[in-house]
Amino acid sequence: MRKKIVAGNWKMNKSMDEAMILASEVVHMVKDEVNADVQVIIAPPALYLTTLQKHTGPVSNMGIAAQNCSNKASGAYTGEISASMLKSIGVTHVIIGHSERRQYFNETNEELAEKVNIVLENGMTPIFCCGESLEQRQGEGFFAFVASQLTEGIFHLSAEDFGKVVIAYEPIWAIGTGLTASSAQAQEMHAYLRGHLASKYGQVVADETSILYGGSCNEKNAEEIFSQPDVDGGLIGGASLKSREFTNIAKSF
Ligand code: PGA
Repeated sequence: MRKKIVAGNWKMNKSMDEAMILASEVVHMVKDEVNADVQVIIAPPALYLTTLQKHTGPVSNMGIAAQNCSNKASGAYTGEISASMLKSIGVTHVIIGHSERRQYFNETNEELAEKVNIVLENGMTPIFCCGESLEQRQGEGFFAFVASQLTEGIFHLSAEDFGKVVIAYEPIWAIGTGLTASSAQAQEMHAYLRGHLASKYGQVVADETSILYGGSCNEKNAEEIFSQPDVDGGLIGGASLKSREFTNIAKSF
């Protein structure tokens, strides 16, 4: 059975004090209220990972993610953070290829494939993001475009390594806009992507892969979206900045 996952991408938000409060509230609520078979992940800004890992670390169904990492192992790369550094402080997951990284920092599928490798080499789980723009959605070929992001970013992996990857489908037109993909649109794309995974790795591996939906997911629409057969949870942006709402989303399966 594939895992149910809800991950909160805090992006570039919160002071240290605010981050501590948010994380400790989430940890308490998850312990008290969220089913043990749901994995809850928070992805705070990198600066806070060391401190917040101490809150999430002891909770068996919680993880902590970095929002990015370098594609290089170590060395003279000013300002970068390596996968081995993240591993050394107890980070469990790394978001790779978020559309904001692709768009504002020009990250290419080739670099993202290197990041996926280095995250796996360091024993962490990549959350690999894909998704089409509004322009692409309004035209033809957006299914094939999203599939190509997977082909170029993760299809070089062995079946064994591929089994360690989580995928997040995030239509760019739904991120931070309040425009959610309908549950039918999410299901349609997730089913298509699972078929694409099956064509490369076989149905068994495809059926074991968690595919999360992201884009204006909130406590009101999560239940409907998560009820779709190929949606295994969510990557949550804005709504992950409020502990009550984020926990309610994690309870929406
Ligand atoms: P949003 O962001 O929930 O604020 O739309 C989702 C994401 O970018 O991961």
